[in-house]
Amino acid sequence: MKKSYEQFSARRELLDKQYDETYVQKQHKRGKLTAHERILLLFDEGTFEETDAYIPPAEASFGKTVKAFGDGVVTGFGRVNGRLVYAYSQDFNVLGGSLGSRHAAKIVKIQDMALKTGSPVVGLIDSGGARIQEGITGLNGYGDIFKRNVYSSGVIPQISVIMGPAAGGAVYSPALTDFIFMTADTSYMFVTGPNVVKEVLNETVSTEDLGGASVHSTKSGVADFVYSDDENTILGVKRLLSFLPLNNMENPPLIKSDDTAKRVEDQLRNIVPEDPDKPYDVKEIVELLVDNGDYMEVAENHASNIFTAFARMDGQVVGIVANQPKVMAGTLDIDSSIKGARFINICNSFNIPIITLEDVPGFLPGTDQEHDGIIRHGAKLLYAYTFASVPKITVILRKAYGGAYIVMNSKGIGGDFVFAWPTAEIAVMGPDGAIAILYRKELAESEDPVMLKKELTQKYREEVTNPYIADEKGFIDEVIDPAMTRSKIITSLKALDRKTEYRPKRKHGNMPL
Ligand code: HXC
Repeated sequence: MKKSYEQFSARRELLDKQYDETYVQKQHKRGKLTAHERILLLFDEGTFEETDAYIPPAEASFGKTVKAFGDGVVTGFGRVNGRLVYAYSQDFNVLGGSLGSRHAAKIVKIQDMALKTGSPVVGLIDSGGARIQEGITGLNGYGDIFKRNVYSSGVIPQISVIMGPAAGGAVYSPALTDFIFMTADTSYMFVTGPNVVKEVLNETVSTEDLGGASVHSTKSGVADFVYSDDENTILGVKRLLSFLPLNNMENPPLIKSDDTAKRVEDQLRNIVPEDPDKPYDVKEIVELLVDNGDYMEVAENHASNIFTAFARMDGQVVGIVANQPKVMAGTLDIDSSIKGARFINICNSFNIPIITLEDVPGFLPGTDQEHDGIIRHGAKLLYAYTFASVPKITVILRKAYGGAYIVMNSKGIGGDFVFAWPTAEIAVMGPDGAIAILYRKELAESEDPVMLKKELTQKYREEVTNPYIADEKGFIDEVIDPAMTRSKIITSLKALDRKTEYRPKRKHGNMPL
């Protein structure tokens, strides 16, 4: 026994030696935490169990094989806020965190265990991509990972956290997962790097400008969350996990707060301006509605004309989708349609009710939008809302015009409860467009077209757009006092608690892509 224990200890000592101070400093000098430090930060103290720590890299014919344990990735499981989560963390210090065959096999094992046990997977990515000297074997490893990403999609939450390079085809594992986090300044993602861009297009671009966190959180929309450093990024991941169930068969965790369900918010009567053309910040409304004003915004700086966030109402997790009148008057364009659709799909996959706050003048007009396919992309939002079977509640704050009204979870496409504030305007189009079409001749012939237009606008608001008409026709459930909105939503959520909706049997739907 003594001899075998000595062998056991010697092996352990070798492993500890690998992770000595020089190793730690090498990564810290890059402004990054080590793979172990990151994974330990993710899990509740003392709960991380490492798997396959002793696996060395495979022998490769093209040299550059190192004698190192772990093959450049730390894998295992533990508890995050007391709940089981599987994770892997790539180790840039070992062959640039590149993905060799054994490295891939370790990740695949984690993915399989997570799927079998119905637990989320978090991937902490810091890698030079497929290990060049392993050739096809490393490459094939990505195929194995992608396959599991797809099979796990909609079953267990998958979160990718980019904390260094993610280049080449390797970006497609994160892209297949539910959420992407990036750490500012130290992470980047691209399919082809600056050198190839220079060679092929003769374009000079820096790594940051091509695929840094700032680009992906604003322009491309690839990254859902960006934090300043490794610690804050991992704290963000933990917070996100608190809104998600462990798998699609469970509900997200209910966390009751001291906020009261029947809270009356008088301030809500004054946020939406009387003048329909005046902007306001819909986040002010969200803050007053949700438990303790606390929400986690998703893709904050991309397509900000639509707001998406997780929050709690009376302890129950909800997904909030809101038009943002402060940005592009809250119109729907291609990017916001895609952003909204993706968020709704995630909510629906993971049993999160959707609350829609609507103030939308319509889809953004113009040749750019039409030529880039607003028809196809706008349909994504329509499809996602219609297909979602979780409880769906809408509050029309102000404008609800035309196709955009229908798309934003109207009764027609399956909204369970649709409420309207007294400021709501529900119509085929706004007064300007309607009067221009219906009264073109009269306006042209009028001696005072300005006055006539003013009168017609007033008449249109009274006779066509006011929410009491929709209320009396049953297209909305009630015109409500804005101050009572929180209580109305919470009561409606409880009424929908056991909602079940059946869809015709099929292999899968054909969402417009
Ligand atoms: C093997 C690699 C490696 C790789 C980096 N290293 N990438 N080893 N395979 N893919 C090694 C380096 O040789 C070096 O080893 C160490 O990691 C650190 O790399 P450096 O270049 O010194 O670091 P840095 O200057 O920070 O640059 C990082 C980098 C660069 C930008 C990631 O290394 C790089 O461009 N690597 C190649 C990226 C790439 O094109 N990968 C293939 C992507 S295609 P030493 O021994 O010197 O410390 C792909 C296909 C996926 O992944 C297919 C899916 C369908």
